[in-house]
Amino acid sequence: MTHKTILHINSSSRYQGSITREISELVVNQIGEQHLQHKLVERDLGKGLPFIDAAWVNANFTPEENRSEADNAVLSLSNTLVDEIKQADHIVIASPIYNFGIPAVLKAWVDLIARAKLTFKYTENGPVGLITNTKVTLVMASGGVPIESEMDLATAYLKQALSFIGITDVTVVDCASVTIEEKGIVLENA
Ligand SMILES: Cc1cc2nc3c(=O)[nH]c(=O)nc-3n(C[C@H](O)[C@H](O)[C@H](O)COP(=O)(O)O)c2cc1C
Repeated sequence: MTHKTILHINSSSRYQGSITREISELVVNQIGEQHLQHKLVERDLGKGLPFIDAAWVNANFTPEENRSEADNAVLSLSNTLVDEIKQADHIVIASPIYNFGIPAVLKAWVDLIARAKLTFKYTENGPVGLITNTKVTLVMASGGVPIESEMDLATAYLKQALSFIGITDVTVVDCASVTIEEKGIVLENA
């Protein structure tokens, strides 16, 4: 049993009756039980995140050594979110499907964590992800679109964005296929 850090990201706008919140909590507990020593970091996006803007993009494109205090302040939340990813061994992302894709707030999170030199780097052969040895479990819910079907752009998008930063060990939990009572979630990559 080794020490593990689990990062739990919720993105449902709902707090009452949210399927992804309930199932992802079970998933997080199950991963925790498999590692006697573990630290849990909660990142709840349900109340919103700022969108990147011109000041953010300019600060991000400015080499670190040339950044002003204002640049660093603008990048501060983004830096925190990147640190959370870097420190995590296993990330559990809970995502409803909203209008065929991920919730806007989760896209805002992706925009804040896709950082050149921090989570990916440019090489002669194209971009390479820098987040390695990190497992992800996606906890996906919809109102009817079958998870991982062609209509489900949310799961496909998350896999693509995670792969871009180097994370390819991804397991998908389809909330429609599990019930909270039976707690029958099988996590092969925990
Ligand atoms: C704004 C909004 C948009 C939605 N769009 C879709 C959709 O495009 N396809 C679908 O199958 N379900 C859609 N749903 C249903 C949700 O995916 C479903 O209710 C899911 O359980 C929500 O996650 P939660 O229970 O964790 O809040 C939508 C729900 C909301 C609130």
